[in-house]
Amino acid sequence: MARVSGHLLEEEHPFGIGGASYGGAGGTPAIRPIGGGDAPAIGAAFPGTEATGSQVSYDPDKPRRVRAMFGTIAGRYDLLNSLLSFQMHKWWRRVALRECRLAPGMVALDVGAGTADMALGMAARVGATGHVVGIDFCEPMLRLGVEKVARRGLAARVQLAVGDAQMLPLADESVDAAITAFVLRNVVDVPRTFAEMARVTRPGGRVVSLELARPASPLFGRIYDLYFHRVLPRIGGLLSSKEAYTYLPNSLTGFHSVETLAAMMRAAGLQEVKVLRLTGGIVAVHVGRKPG
Ligand SMILES: C[S@@+](CC[C@H](N)C(=O)[O-])C[C@H]1O[C@@H](n2cnc3c(N)ncnc32)[C@H](O)[C@@H]1O
Repeated sequence: MARVSGHLLEEEHPFGIGGASYGGAGGTPAIRPIGGGDAPAIGAAFPGTEATGSQVSYDPDKPRRVRAMFGTIAGRYDLLNSLLSFQMHKWWRRVALRECRLAPGMVALDVGAGTADMALGMAARVGATGHVVGIDFCEPMLRLGVEKVARRGLAARVQLAVGDAQMLPLADESVDAAITAFVLRNVVDVPRTFAEMARVTRPGGRVVSLELARPASPLFGRIYDLYFHRVLPRIGGLLSSKEAYTYLPNSLTGFHSVETLAAMMRAAGLQEVKVLRLTGGIVAVHVGRKPG
């Protein structure tokens, strides 16, 4: 089992993450946001993904745009998640959390934690003797997460910090399980994100991704496209930001297939990789185990 010795976050991280953490035991709201366009240089494109389009071509402005977009929609993010998924996201999250195989006393990581739904789910599983770290590069999302964590009286168990998924501010093999939910479509370098999650996970621990995917059946695919590309941006536009909820379906177009994501997990050194397709394949849970 991974252990938390003192502060789990590395204090001398290149982004100065130690000073940017908030929530958690002794955490202070001393926020040092990450500057614009400062994502680490992209690693080599994953072999065989060239045909999948935009996700493999490096857009230097993407991190700034994504961060700004989530900053704009943060206030309505939870409401729209529930509304647009007809509450199904709660079940999807439970399935993904179960795959982390967490137990009381363990240390867990939520990458791209946003408003901390997964971090809270992990906190329930690791119990009072465990610890959860959530990393996200969008401060407004994290602030809402901090409020939720505090409302549930879990501030001593959950620590949220500003950081990049592609350069996690954690030591090697410092967590028992790492999860990421609805984040990978937004990162520039997915293989690197998996590699980072694998690096910080202890041998035998799980790396899990929950992400939107393309439905398996062509007929369901057409209905889904109609909803995703026509209905969803309208509801999103009425209640939040049309631009952001147009980005949402577009971010899935050209995103890696579930098979490619599984191959990326294997390339990151993970074993026993499996894919669970949920709700007709519109969501996929990828699970890998760190050898050892
Ligand atoms: C769709 S939200 C998901 C939030 C949360 N995981 C959930 O399940 O509701 C995507 C989150 O990923 C974060 N994100 C995107 N790219 C990131 C990166 N490179 N590093 C850290 N966070 C990132 C965004 O700021 C945003 O909070």
